[in-house]
Amino acid sequence: MKLLPLAIASFIAGIILLPLAICLYLVFGNPPVATADKSFPLEAQIAHIPLQARIHREMPVASPIPTTDENLNAGASLYEDKCESCHGTADQPSALGRALFPQAPQLWIKHANGGVGVSDDPVGETYWKIKNGIRLTGMPAYGKSLSEKQLWQVSLLLSMADKPLPADASHTVGR
Ligand code: HEC
Repeated sequence: MKLLPLAIASFIAGIILLPLAICLYLVFGNPPVATADKSFPLEAQIAHIPLQARIHREMPVASPIPTTDENLNAGASLYEDKCESCHGTADQPSALGRALFPQAPQLWIKHANGGVGVSDDPVGETYWKIKNGIRLTGMPAYGKSLSEKQLWQVSLLLSMADKPLPADASHTVGR
């Protein structure tokens, strides 16, 4: 019978003490707030769980426009104009992108698995990220400043980053 008051007291202490401890940590614990600070343990992994879940619910399955030279060249011009400053080219990584937190991935760099940038992601996932942006990172949402066709042109370009590109596009991305 004495267990019940004890359980109630523990419950109340729990709901008061836990938020209090969190507040004290946020004010006095020096959590990472500067771009140059080190990240929390597992910070990137935890942030990516809801992002990946949302993308996989909403991303289109296939591109509505074909992978023609014309679309790839247009995608490369858009990339040069809007994206290169953070994501770099094959011959020139971006110093600005590396100064962000999280860093902007260099989208023309080859990975150990043979993929280049996001060429190993589904094109619909890349389209979703470009259209909607990635919250609390430097990645802008281009859904209002680029047309649907332009969003797909630059997405197709990035999906082909591990393959030969038409001469103009290849030159623009530094290959
Ligand atoms: C101001 C800097 C900035 C600009 C400009 C920018 N991005 Fe990003 N982008 C980022 C950052 C930072 C990330 C990493 C976000 C993260 O870690 O979740 C990112 C992530 C991405 C990703 C996901 C990469 C991955 O590994 O999953 C893609 C794709 C992408 N950007 C494409 C683009 C395209 C295309 C443009 C131009 C239309 C662009 N970005 C413009 C900063 C930028």
